[in-house]
Amino acid sequence: MKIAVIGTGYVGLVTGTCLAETGNDVICVDVNEAKVLKMQNGEIPIYEPGLDILFHRNIAQGRLVFTTDLAVAIKDAQIIFMALPTPPGGDGAADLSYILGAAKDISKLVTEYKVIINKSTVPVGTADKVQAVFTENTSVEIDVVSNPEFLREGVAVDDFMKPDRVVIGTRSERAKKLLLELYGPYVRQGNPILFMDERSSELTKYAANSFLATKITFMNEVANLCEIVGADVDAVRKGIGSDDRIGKRFLFPGIGYGGSCFPKDVQALAKAADEHNYDFQILRAVMNVNEKQKVVLVDKLLKYYKNDLKGKHFALWGLAFKPETDDIREAPALYIINELLKHGATVAAFDPEGVNNVKAVVGDKIQYSSNQYEALEGADALLIATEWSVFRNPDFDRMEQTLTNKVIFDGRNLYDLEKMIDLGYYYNSIGRKLIN
Ligand code: UDX
Repeated sequence: MKIAVIGTGYVGLVTGTCLAETGNDVICVDVNEAKVLKMQNGEIPIYEPGLDILFHRNIAQGRLVFTTDLAVAIKDAQIIFMALPTPPGGDGAADLSYILGAAKDISKLVTEYKVIINKSTVPVGTADKVQAVFTENTSVEIDVVSNPEFLREGVAVDDFMKPDRVVIGTRSERAKKLLLELYGPYVRQGNPILFMDERSSELTKYAANSFLATKITFMNEVANLCEIVGADVDAVRKGIGSDDRIGKRFLFPGIGYGGSCFPKDVQALAKAADEHNYDFQILRAVMNVNEKQKVVLVDKLLKYYKNDLKGKHFALWGLAFKPETDDIREAPALYIINELLKHGATVAAFDPEGVNNVKAVVGDKIQYSSNQYEALEGADALLIATEWSVFRNPDFDRMEQTLTNKVIFDGRNLYDLEKMIDLGYYYNSIGRKLIN
């Protein structure tokens, strides 16, 4: 099939590349000329495991091309994906100007039937709004479909190639037929393609992410309570997770959820409910708890150092909001850095992928180390903010020689408590016994 993808951000690039991989001809279009030029030269603009192989292969075989020319991109496309940003506007509601603007541009160019797919996470009712733009500007038959993405950063290629489900919101039989054909190769294992109306599809995305954010937040609160009552959150996690209705996944407590999706989507759903005079109380609680959880390590430090962090120097392992990504959007590490600097402490940080992105925002207010051990030099304590595999089994001898004090505040529960006792550390983790 012939496909156009508008927007080559994270979602657009993964979508375009993975669609090319099953034999479709894909043209990706973006307004950013420098970025398009780079991609035309085979340079991949994001870090996503496994994507580079598919990216280079499909470019080499001519199924994946890049342009800045919208007219060229959509001319022969039967299906046009819109993967455009929907940043939170000043009031927390998603800003639709990119999507509605692109719809208007497309509506002036189309000459034959096309399916327009909304891939971005958009408020309920957006498909109707986009459809209205087409109705206003062209007499050509166009079906606007909602088809949210459920890609996790770090495993996005797998999530696209073998999705748990594909959600498609459309009431058009013609569009359904085309999309069944398009997505068929991705659900061969038997996972469902779920057809529903546009509004239900749009809400499915927000509800899925908000539910997952709630699940994590619930566990973070259980962990906080564990610390107070002397229980072990790992045991509780396993105890509840074995119940199929709860499930083992997504129950790991930590220092709050971050990233480009959960914070934005929870906020947008709460806002949408507000606009319809519905007070979505759970979501308000989730947002409040998560704000506090992001700096729970700093609260622990303040307690340990009797409210005085002035002149203290901390090593920080992990900057990205989660492992296997360089994405630092809403990363707890940024909130921690901010708080530490406010309290007069200094920080030396290491992250396997996220350093450049942090440098761009934080600049020289902190030191950046070229490996995890260098970050420990002269540090009063080590703080762990991201569960990168490389931090899971470090060289403890080397750590001992470098750290000024054997003190670890671990926001991701990486180490075995017995081991920390044996090694003689002060070890403060989340929802588990304090080792001191
Ligand atoms: C998420 C959704 O999973 C994906 O389906 C959606 O479409 C986009 O948003 P992503 O933001 O890439 O994906 O990250 P994910 O792996 O879901 O983690 C989100 C946040 O939750 C991270 O900050 C992570 O550290 C945190 N998390 C996750 C926990 O704190 N505990 C867990 O058990 C799982």
